[in-house]
Amino acid sequence: MRINTTRTLILTAISAVVIPAAASAGDADAGKVIFATNCMTCHGMTGKGDGVLAAALNPKPRDLSIGEFKFDTDTDGATGTDADLKGVITQGAMAFGGSPLMAPWPAFSDADVANVIAYIRALKQ
Ligand code: HEC
Repeated sequence: MRINTTRTLILTAISAVVIPAAASAGDADAGKVIFATNCMTCHGMTGKGDGVLAAALNPKPRDLSIGEFKFDTDTDGATGTDADLKGVITQGAMAFGGSPLMAPWPAFSDADVANVIAYIRALKQ
């Protein structure tokens, strides 16, 4: 009994440390495919905010190649963390006082979100 409890505690501690780390380690190549399909029309394939629809938009799509972000979706005092980008991507910018043009993508799996965030990180120049 005592051994089992200890083992459970250790396993719980390990998963608490390992799972979030693994979840944020997305695959940028897989994210590139998602980005090309869903995000490129506005953000442009290199993320500069120069997609084919961008000229008609106000506000302009964020230039993702700069690597600076506006929204603090998890209200931890820092913008542009993986959690913040996940919030904007899954809930849309309007949920955080931004533009409805940056629509929510609620159908993305956690892996999709992690992968597209990895691609966004790779766009920084
Ligand atoms: C219809 C055009 C459009 C599409 C499609 C689009 N975005 Fe955006 N995106 C925007 C606009 C406009 C903003 C700026 C929103 C604002 O500042 O209120 C933005 C902002 C962002 C930001 C910046 C958030 C911040 O905190 O600064 C990220 C990250 C982002 N988009 C990721 C994505 C991803 C990933 C996709 C595809 C899954 C996507 N966008 C698809 C228009 C678009």
